[in-house]
Amino acid sequence: MLSRPVWPQLEGIAFGGDYNPEQWPREVWQQDVELMRKAGVNLVTVGMWSWSLLEPTEGDFDFAWLDELLDLLHDHGIAVDLGTPSAAPPAWFFARYPHTRVVTADGVSLGFGSRGMVSPHAPEYHEAIVRMASKLAERYADHPAVRMWHVHNEYGAPVAEDHSDNAARAFRAWLKDRYGDLDALNAAWGTAVWSQHYRDWDHINTPGTAPSVVNPAQKLDFARFTDAALRKCFILERDVIRARASQPITTNFMANQHWGIDMWAWADEVDLVSDDHYLVAEDEDAHIGLSIAADLTRSVAGGKPWLLLEHSTSGVNWQPRNVGKRPGEMARNSLAHLARGADGIMFFQWRAARHGQEKFHSAMIPHAGTDSRVFREVCQLGADLRKAAPLKGSSVKADVAMLWDFQSFWAQDLEWRPSVDLTHKSQIRAYYERLWRDGITVDFVLPGHDLTGYKFVVAPAQYMLSEADAHNLNSYVASGGVLVAAPFTAAVDENDAVHVGGYLAPLEPALGVRVEEYLPLRKRASVNVQLGDSNVGATIWTEHVEPTSAEVRGTYVDGPVPDKAAITRNAHGKGVGWYISTCLSARELQRVVEQVYADAGVRPADLPADVELVTRIGEDTAYTVAINHSEQKVSLPLAGIDLLADEEISHTLELERGKVAIVSHPHPLIDELNRKENT
Ligand code: GLA
Repeated sequence: MLSRPVWPQLEGIAFGGDYNPEQWPREVWQQDVELMRKAGVNLVTVGMWSWSLLEPTEGDFDFAWLDELLDLLHDHGIAVDLGTPSAAPPAWFFARYPHTRVVTADGVSLGFGSRGMVSPHAPEYHEAIVRMASKLAERYADHPAVRMWHVHNEYGAPVAEDHSDNAARAFRAWLKDRYGDLDALNAAWGTAVWSQHYRDWDHINTPGTAPSVVNPAQKLDFARFTDAALRKCFILERDVIRARASQPITTNFMANQHWGIDMWAWADEVDLVSDDHYLVAEDEDAHIGLSIAADLTRSVAGGKPWLLLEHSTSGVNWQPRNVGKRPGEMARNSLAHLARGADGIMFFQWRAARHGQEKFHSAMIPHAGTDSRVFREVCQLGADLRKAAPLKGSSVKADVAMLWDFQSFWAQDLEWRPSVDLTHKSQIRAYYERLWRDGITVDFVLPGHDLTGYKFVVAPAQYMLSEADAHNLNSYVASGGVLVAAPFTAAVDENDAVHVGGYLAPLEPALGVRVEEYLPLRKRASVNVQLGDSNVGATIWTEHVEPTSAEVRGTYVDGPVPDKAAITRNAHGKGVGWYISTCLSARELQRVVEQVYADAGVRPADLPADVELVTRIGEDTAYTVAINHSEQKVSLPLAGIDLLADEEISHTLELERGKVAIVSHPHPLIDELNRKENT
């Protein structure tokens, strides 16, 4: 194996997008490369949707057009992120191997004419992708344009789970490996319920559609198996590329759209972490969702710089109402990703497609052409990113962590939970938004991670928690940490079985409460919680909580358990555990988190509304990115050099509505050290 860099060899911040020239005649290629230079593009992704051109019939390869394209790009100084086309096998493949199609839980075999319709468990697919990846690696490993490899596209989208015969066979093999014998499987799945005992491996199937709800432990294992099988496909391609090529290899995650893959496990397999992000158009504060995705991506990357491999210049085409971006919004989005650790800003796609499913998706060159607001903003962004080059390689430091556990989300999303209204997405959003509005940057972590150094840790949606992970959280608190847990925490273990001792039992040391009963509310109902001498409104969910050692800080005024504890605080060892047993909005959470901040010694930033402030720390310089999402001009107490405006700021940054500044200033920690040395 060759040793490999973790970042593509490129000057400055990566800037560009998906490039699909196979949809265009040659004269457009020439215009494209010239316009890319004008816009400051230095990296494009090619080849992801080219299988039917690269291998027109089985075993016959045609690389002439790709040779020509890579040479053209290279001649114009544009580097290439070379894609492998495994997300869309050609028509001949399915005609020859019809049983490689994905089968839904209802037994429907998914047809051709789209993408992502191949079973990740089919041996013929494995052979074909390995053959293609090795051909590409042989031919292009030494091409000077190729600076990174991009395997597949968005594993798990549009469908991850497959119920074909190939899938059932592979599932049984995976289960044998996990459990060793059927007794262990029967115990883990709780098959005594509804007469499901298995006495023969061949009787086990994928959890297809059944008359009633299917065993949740079986479904959870199926989600784990699917994730592992997709990862195996990635590794197959990655390893044949690695054997020949020295450039870093990635695949694009979708932190905010598709949660069928466990990004923590995948991050260990890629050389560099990359993400695709699309705003949720219905969300009026979609930039907060963006921050969640960016912080998550940085966190799974272990704090190392990551690459935004796709986002959009304006509207997308696949949401019910594809709201376009307002002037300046694309730059705010791009620079928010940069602020949260991205060292590259890329788009889907370079030129809007005339044909096909995605023709109404925005692009760097829209259908209106280059005399357009979007293209002008793209060129401006290219220029801004050149000025932002000093940020490359710097990192983001967060004092606060939030738990994010994909496997727990998969389990929580299964059927027959106490209320459909309590979702991990909404819980994470409420807590994250509170911290975002208080100017507090968070890292996401798994409950088993080393939490030392975090001033507090929030668990907004840790429905599933193993004993070992609970032990880690209890120890974190005992040794001085502050833990905040939200409702429906630690209900079940890793097999989706309720904890012995009841809900929340493994966290009783840290939280000092017992939960007797979950008491969800009717749709649109609310309750009041008395906090000090006033009330806050809560919705969706309440619990009958009995403190064992915790003190009561908030009490239900009404609802199913009036006068009982709603919010508790527990001193445990050197630390504190908070339990919030109901759903509070980001606004209502303010009065609770104020007390958490006091316990943790965290000072929230006194920011004007809708202003985002994040600092990246370089070797001896820090860069504070200030983004004004509001409609008003704001003044911020910042001093340094505004890299984008190229202006010195003596003590106050005046930031117009919708604008972004990147202020470079001495690193506060280095400043402190200098002060100490001089005294
Ligand atoms: C995903 C895909 C792209 C494109 C965009 C459209 O991110 O990776 O190929 O389809 O969605 O938003």
